Amino acid sequence: MENPTRTAEHLARIDQRHNDLREELASLIPAKSVIVWEVGSGHGHFLTAYAAAHPDRICVGVDITRDRIERGIRKRNRAKLTKLHFIHAEANNFLRALPAGVTFSSVYILFPDPWPKRRHHKNRILQADFLSAVAVRAGQGARLHFRTDYEPYFKEATQVIATHPAWQIAAEPWPFEQLTVFQSRAAQHHSLTARRRAAGA
Ligand SMILES: C[S@@+](CC[C@H](N)C(=O)[O-])C[C@H]1O[C@@H](n2cnc3c(N)ncnc32)[C@H](O)[C@@H]1O
Repeated sequence: MENPTRTAEHLARIDQRHNDLREELASLIPAKSVIVWEVGSGHGHFLTAYAAAHPDRICVGVDITRDRIERGIRKRNRAKLTKLHFIHAEANNFLRALPAGVTFSSVYILFPDPWPKRRHHKNRILQADFLSAVAVRAGQGARLHFRTDYEPYFKEATQVIATHPAWQIAAEPWPFEQLTVFQSRAAQHHSLTARRRAAGA
């Protein structure tokens, strides 16, 4: 049977974590900023190289694995990249906690967990609801870049994006190459870029 005290404590902890994340983001990302977001930034290789090549851009990497975020922070500190941030958070929680008015110019999803079993597909990050939530924050001309070595996920992502009202597949070259840890382990990979559709298009 459910214990009401434990449930209330659990809900209070979730609330506290959300408020802590909101405060952390508000302290790092000025309201109304345009940012580059990497979902599942892993060990931070991609975003550190990207931020070094684009020092004027605010770049934010998010990952649920704390020690990967810590590695990213060490890379950032060594490279003295003041506009680069690595945040320990779940991607959907990050979206909910982002300061008002912050928008994305680009979103990168590189080698996301593939969840190969059918019953686990619901855990894949790239889903229609996620695309809708990202679209709310995607500024005019925003791009979403997706790369995976798992072909069934690539096919599904292509289909989900192609049929989504807010996004369209764009035939564009990959904008920035940097080997990630998971890319270095993959025999091959597939990439796609999507463009935020103009309102009413
Ligand atoms: C397969 S690894 C790829 C890491 C990196 N992008 C690379 O190419 O080396 C997937 C990463 O996504 C993170 N991750 C999985 N689900 C996530 C979520 N819902 N929100 C944030 N990070 C997530 C995992 O902790 C892991 O570091």
